[in-house]
Amino acid sequence: MALLDIHDLRVYYETRHGAVKAVDGVGFSMEQGEHLGLIGESGCGKTTVGRAIIRVLPRNARIVEGEISFQGQDLLKLREREMRHIRWREIAMIPQSSMDALDPVYRVGDQIVEVLVERGGYDRRAAWERAHELFQLVGLDPSRLRYYPHEFSGGMKQRAVIAMSLALEPALIIADEPVTALDVIVQHQVLQRFRELQHELSLSVLMITHDMSVVAQTCDSVIVMYAGKMMEWGSVDQIFYHPFHPYTLGLKQAFPNLAQPRDELISIEGYLPDLIHPPPGCRFADRCPFALPDCREAEPELIEVEEGHQVACHRTDDVEELRARAQEVETWQTLA
Ligand SMILES: Nc1ncnc2c1ncn2[C@@H]1O[C@H](COP(=O)(O)OP(=O)(O)OP(=O)(O)O)[C@@H](O)[C@H]1O
Ligand code: SF4
Ligand SMILES: [Mg+2]
Repeated sequence: MALLDIHDLRVYYETRHGAVKAVDGVGFSMEQGEHLGLIGESGCGKTTVGRAIIRVLPRNARIVEGEISFQGQDLLKLREREMRHIRWREIAMIPQSSMDALDPVYRVGDQIVEVLVERGGYDRRAAWERAHELFQLVGLDPSRLRYYPHEFSGGMKQRAVIAMSLALEPALIIADEPVTALDVIVQHQVLQRFRELQHELSLSVLMITHDMSVVAQTCDSVIVMYAGKMMEWGSVDQIFYHPFHPYTLGLKQAFPNLAQPRDELISIEGYLPDLIHPPPGCRFADRCPFALPDCREAEPELIEVEEGHQVACHRTDDVEELRARAQEVETWQTLA
């Protein structure tokens, strides 16, 4: 049985202008021990997927359809009381901003102890011992448990939030941009420790990020999202070395660590489509240098192009040509 199995998830935000179709038919599964990356540019729906799994969504959000099966149990059918048992204990989320997880008016240690006592049934003494252990695990001096969040640096706060997410040994950790707010050197240190912990503790991690290098460092498989939909899903090797989808080809050319040394870096011109009135056909068509007239009419389904590798594009048969053209900087300038 898969650890997490999501079918046709649709999450819309009600607004004055209509429903924003932030997640519009996403389905994937994750095995125990897997490190799955969810990647895509700002606004494509990554956080919404993560928050829908633990059902902590803004008030105007509505899960209009779908099934989220976690260890065989449909989370969308659980009552809120039952869902509280799942959060922290079974699924912990490291939110996009660590300040969302840390309350500025309480000492960091008290907040971790609170999770252990309230959610994990620890007594206070054992909880403090566990908090010490958790700080050591993430590379923080346990004497800092008595500090307030504002006395921590950004990297320390992020480590503290990671410690908190590990507190009750959840079966799944959803890490939403865990290092984005940090400078590059601190990012590297935090990611390195996180990667070691993934292996030492056999964690299952859904890593949400817009940064391909974070995926390269921490994941073994990856989903590329665009405008509320999945464009491509495969192993990290498949996505990085044999990508099929034009959006993935563009992302790859946009990241210095992944493009070939001789390649010029590109940026994908244009913006996400309007998610209240998404275009018919392929949602990437307006920015895709390889779009054909048909692409704007029929929506491409995810199809398997090789074992464990799925792509939603009408032009998978032309992949060799697309890969070659994607390396040319001019290809991406034609839309400007
Ligand atoms: N409360 C809300 N009300 C209306 N629209 C929202 C709300 N929250 C998010 N959205 C919209 O839903 C879409 C998906 O948002 P989401 O936060 O899931 O994206 P994301 O991929 O996590 O982006 P980022 O990389 O910037 O964190 C965006 O277009 C966003 O503007
Ligand atoms: S379906 Fe067409 S527009 Fe969409 S990514 Fe493929 S080639 Fe580009
Ligand atoms: Mg986000």
